[in-house]
Amino acid sequence: MSKGLFITFEGADGCGKTTQIKLLDEYLKSRGYKTLLTREPGAKGLGEKVREILLNYDGEVSPRCESFLFLADRAQNADCIIKPAVKDGVIVLCDRHTDSTIAYQGYGRGVNIEELKKLNDMAVSGLKPDLTFVFDIDIQTSMARVGKEKDRMESAGLEFFERVRKGYLEIAKQEPERVKVIDSTKSIEEIHQKVLEFIENVFG
Ligand code: TYD
Repeated sequence: MSKGLFITFEGADGCGKTTQIKLLDEYLKSRGYKTLLTREPGAKGLGEKVREILLNYDGEVSPRCESFLFLADRAQNADCIIKPAVKDGVIVLCDRHTDSTIAYQGYGRGVNIEELKKLNDMAVSGLKPDLTFVFDIDIQTSMARVGKEKDRMESAGLEFFERVRKGYLEIAKQEPERVKVIDSTKSIEEIHQKVLEFIENVFG
């Protein structure tokens, strides 16, 4: 393969996507593919500093300021990590990307979605996932998985996360070719098999 692939993993907190990224990474490596794991917020380097602010700052953060911080981290991840790797033929697996901003800041916090789409475009400058998984789960279950120790984002409340979930399902409806919804109430192995079905389709 000359050009790599860019695959993103999305869903509400506690949906189980991080486990699935690791499983897919192991699978791809076992098949001889070169892979790279990255995440937003918190790509290696500068992104880790931005993540620290986003998840732990305990003063007031306006929804628009929050959006710009996520977008700044995204631009860095796109330019310095994702694009060079894809160009080198690597399969990049990214834990959250543009759809998180639409779901969380747009649907969740009420920031204007059309504006966020433009800002997302500016942040990634031509980068687009080849495939996106949305791990869908009811919010009661996902919040129970998150547990009592919540970071700044996870403390936003059940109604917020209901809006985030709705946002993801709406995004999937609008872009069914790219965005695949997976029922995350199933077992880890069943979910992994579903992921592989979609991956095989992309590889053809
Ligand atoms: P993280 O601990 O990485 O959560 P998870 O393991 O669920 O991915 O924290 C990232 C948090 O940031 C998560 O609550 C989602 C939120 N987020 C946004 O609100 N907007 C964004 O654009 C991104 C990338 C993340």
